[in-house]
Amino acid sequence: MHRGVEATAYLVNESRARRPDLAGDPLAAAWMPDGERPAVRGLWDKFAEVVYEHDDLVVSLRGRCVADTLGAALRKDPDTILVNCGAGFSSYPWLLPFRAALEVDLPDLVRAKQQRVTELVASGVLPERDVRHAPVDLNDPSARSELISLVNEFADGRPVAYVAEGVVFYLPPEDARAVVGLGAGFDNCVVSAVSYWPAAAAESRVLADQRDWFRSRSVPEEATYLTDDELTSLLGAEFENQGPEDLQRRYLSRVVVPESDLIPEYVAVSWT
Ligand SMILES: C[S@@+](CC[C@H](N)C(=O)[O-])C[C@H]1O[C@@H](n2cnc3c(N)ncnc32)[C@H](O)[C@@H]1O
Repeated sequence: MHRGVEATAYLVNESRARRPDLAGDPLAAAWMPDGERPAVRGLWDKFAEVVYEHDDLVVSLRGRCVADTLGAALRKDPDTILVNCGAGFSSYPWLLPFRAALEVDLPDLVRAKQQRVTELVASGVLPERDVRHAPVDLNDPSARSELISLVNEFADGRPVAYVAEGVVFYLPPEDARAVVGLGAGFDNCVVSAVSYWPAAAAESRVLADQRDWFRSRSVPEEATYLTDDELTSLLGAEFENQGPEDLQRRYLSRVVVPESDLIPEYVAVSWT
């Protein structure tokens, strides 16, 4: 358990569960059944020891930024639906009043999420929502084309808010760029929110330590970094770009931990 790239979904769920207020995600802790939480905590503690001890900060800040973006999209049009690629154990369809959502992930993760959704709806922890779960390997170009058709059918003309959070750096460069720009293929994508690691931060000490941890967990260690020019060509010149220090200023009023001590994860938000 907790090996391969899917392990990262458990890790970042624990990061939000440690900072539910900052993340704006009171449901984060519920995703792990009681019996599983100690193992996930152990995974996080080991990661904190060998990589860095602030994943709760970085992941909660990026999640809060995404949640605020989605809230703004719903205020503009309550019919907006959510499409989330690499959705992991994120909670957006249950935190926000989406009328419909499509969550995409690898098959094992989709199975685990669906099972937990069923349990949590039955126990009244999660409200009933129209959430469809699609098992898709985002590295497969033909699967991505099918996904675009599925999104357009599912949205049926409604506005789409598109999220790819904490996933594109794990994909090979061409696939990463395709996933960043996936919203361009949707009939009515109104906003894309994508987190990424900038090429300028590729030499980060924390990312170097993380590569060692990835190797120990069978997570592919080659990462894709993106330049401003690539993001501009995929998201348009007007995208908002916020790094971990910007997000700390926004949500904590000051920089508590400098970017050099953090995973340099940026959130690009592009409204159309
Ligand atoms: C770090 S987790 C982020 C999960 C979620 N977005 C969040 O912020 O909590 C990365 C997620 O991307 C998924 N993922 C990685 N590679 C993928 C691929 N090729 N196709 C689909 N999903 C993938 C993993 O299974 C995992 O759920």
